[in-house]
Amino acid sequence: MKGMKTIMIMSGVLSLGLTLHAQDAALVKKGEGVYTAQRCSTCHGIAGKGNKSNPLDGVGGKLSTEDIHHWIVDPTAMTAKAQSTKKPPMPNRYSKLPAEELDALVAYLASLK
Ligand code: HEC
Repeated sequence: MKGMKTIMIMSGVLSLGLTLHAQDAALVKKGEGVYTAQRCSTCHGIAGKGNKSNPLDGVGGKLSTEDIHHWIVDPTAMTAKAQSTKKPPMPNRYSKLPAEELDALVAYLASLK
């Protein structure tokens, strides 16, 4: 009986894990769409596509999700913090994106490890 209960709990945890994973994948996919729609690739490159002068490959391993989010909503502050002198600097217009698009975009970039 005890063993059965353990199995049931284990499979519950496993399917919860799979569900979360599927949700993550859907969010990442949505974020990729936002990235394309917002034309981030005019200045940024991912996997050799887009502007190669500011690659975002591996950004998920380099920056925390908080920093990625911060870059998108307040690039002026982040440019100053990073002491970036790149021209043109990143525009300050993405903070107006709907929260769910921002979350998806952050999830997409965070997945680039
Ligand atoms: C007009 C050009 C431009 C556009 C458009 C642009 N960015 Fe940027 N972005 C930059 C520059 C310049 C930097 C600073 C890069 C540096 O200093 O290394 C930057 C930095 C970043 C960083 C931090 C990268 C790092 O390695 O530290 C992220 C994340 C980022 N941008 C995401 C985005 C996203 C997402 C979009 C679209 C919503 C976008 N950017 C649109 C120019 C742009």
